[in-house]
Amino acid sequence: MIRLLTIVSLLFLSTLGTWAQAKDSTPAEDREALRKYFQSKFPDIPLDAYKDGAYIFDPKARAQFEEIEEFPPWEFDVEEGEALFKAPFKNGKTYADCFENGGIGIAQKYPLWDEKREEVVTLPLAINLCRQANGEEPLPYEKSDLLKIQAFMAYTSRGKRIEGPEPTGKALEAYKKGREYYYSKRGQLHMTCANCHLQHAASRLRYELPGPLLGQTTHWPAYRSKWEELGDIQRRYKECNKQVRAKDLPYQAEEYRNLQYYMHQMDIGLEFNGPSSRK
Ligand code: HEC
Repeated sequence: MIRLLTIVSLLFLSTLGTWAQAKDSTPAEDREALRKYFQSKFPDIPLDAYKDGAYIFDPKARAQFEEIEEFPPWEFDVEEGEALFKAPFKNGKTYADCFENGGIGIAQKYPLWDEKREEVVTLPLAINLCRQANGEEPLPYEKSDLLKIQAFMAYTSRGKRIEGPEPTGKALEAYKKGREYYYSKRGQLHMTCANCHLQHAASRLRYELPGPLLGQTTHWPAYRSKWEELGDIQRRYKECNKQVRAKDLPYQAEEYRNLQYYMHQMDIGLEFNGPSSRK
């Protein structure tokens, strides 16, 4: 509790209002404004560095991270994921039949707006929709088989750039909902995601260093030492919400998918480097 109180008092002392996202700004305008914000805050950091999150600002943790990535803890998950990805369903089809380019090198496009479903579809959701379309049961979220398949698909996208069309119409509505979520106060601590990942990005909140919003979606799924396994970005959302004592949402809740859609739009053009490892 003392730690949380310290965070709150730090925030009251900080200059709030350095950042405001206009209600009718477009995703492209938001992206540009966000990049300018970080550029003026950290002029020495090139845009491409943001894919490594909080490690940009913490040389000691960065050295550890680079050492870990030499023998990546997610390597076997990718191998097993490939086998799962290629195993045929009972009807003889495979995941490759559901996806553009047979599912290879497309993870950087997710989450995306699905015109037919009229909702944001994340990669794990797309994997389950593929299963269901082929008469298979969906896999539980944030459990190993689904994460392994996702890890394999992410691996085939390494080095590509985050991409996605500029949202319009209903997609733009979803984007705006996601954006609103990021900048809304929540939880007993009345904090927004932006309080930590914009205003306090790279400043120590007691002993934890929140990384910048820019680049938060580039590297999933991630193997976290704390989890001792792979996890997806929504597991992280849940943890951050818990930190501020905010209401928890189930995996793949519409709010989380819209949030992820907003964050993905902010990262367009950055290098995709999933799967990855984090502390
Ligand atoms: C009290 C401060 C705080 C708040 C509020 C907060 N976070 Fe975090 N968050 C952290 C810290 C600290 C970390 C760990 C360091 C890092 O990777 O940024 C983190 C990590 C993350 C990561 C993983 C980043 C990576 O590179 O792997 C994501 C994604 C994230 N937060 C999203 C959110 C979202 C979305 C919200 C709002 C719902 C939120 N956070 C609210 C402090 C916060």
